[in-house]
Amino acid sequence: MRVFHWSQVVLLVGLWYTGSEGLMAEHQLMAYTLAALLIARICWGGYGSVTARFSHFAATPLAALRYLRQPKPVVGHNPAGGYMIFILIALVALQLLTGLATFDNSYISDGPLVRYLSDDWVSLASKIHKLNIDLITICVAVHVFAALWHSWRHDNVILTLITGKTKLEVTAQQPLVKNSWSFFVLVAVLLLLFYVWQGEMLLRFI
Ligand code: HEM
Ligand code: HEM
Repeated sequence: MRVFHWSQVVLLVGLWYTGSEGLMAEHQLMAYTLAALLIARICWGGYGSVTARFSHFAATPLAALRYLRQPKPVVGHNPAGGYMIFILIALVALQLLTGLATFDNSYISDGPLVRYLSDDWVSLASKIHKLNIDLITICVAVHVFAALWHSWRHDNVILTLITGKTKLEVTAQQPLVKNSWSFFVLVAVLLLLFYVWQGEMLLRFI
């Protein structure tokens, strides 16, 4: 998850830069890499380590409010942070999906679904692709502020996300941590599938 998180941060910065500068070959290359990581993360959310599973940190709004009023040490994502994680994953997925249908005025650098969709859908996707990046930026700002605040007031979750170690005392039963090899195999398979789908098109940019 550390690899997923920090690669995602680097790729999103790169995607924002390449998108804004019109560097479409690099933009699409990074986008497919991020898509492979994100799809693997979503699958890992179903079968992976217990604290990474969506069912582990999906909470009712009441539980999230209760946590915000009276934070307690939590192993894994806390109920309030869990909401932001779902929002960030959904927004990044939306950015990827709309990118596939975004128009760039060129047969090569248009998203690969442009030629299959009607003008209305392409125009809608292109608008969302431009607007959603602002929404992602706002949510990331809140997310980073919350991570800094939590690390300062409670336990250092930022350091945990770098080292993989926590200073929290885990007295209850240790959560199951799965070996991550299947996650990386899945990323590799997805990268291969994206290469088969779009590799030849990407090579035409160079
Ligand atoms: C592009 C920007 C970012 C995005 C899209 C993002 C997204 C995410 C996601 C999806 C998770 C859940 C990880 C998982 O379960 O797989 C997460 C967790 C986390 N992120 Fe970020 N993040 C970003 C930047 C940052 C930065 C810059 C920091 C630190 C300053 C940070 C600190 C954290 C922490 C501490 C957690 C774990 C929270 C917990 O223990 O519950 N994130 N982030
Ligand atoms: C999370 C992934 C992505 C991010 C963060 C992202 C971000 C951006 C940004 C910031 C822009 C500039 C928007 C503007 O002009 O204001 C852009 C443009 C563009 N993106 Fe993405 N993008 C992503 C995924 C994709 C994907 C998967 C594709 C297609 C395979 C794609 C295709 C395009 C195209 C064609 C443009 C040019 C639009 C234009 O010139 O008006 N993007 N993207």
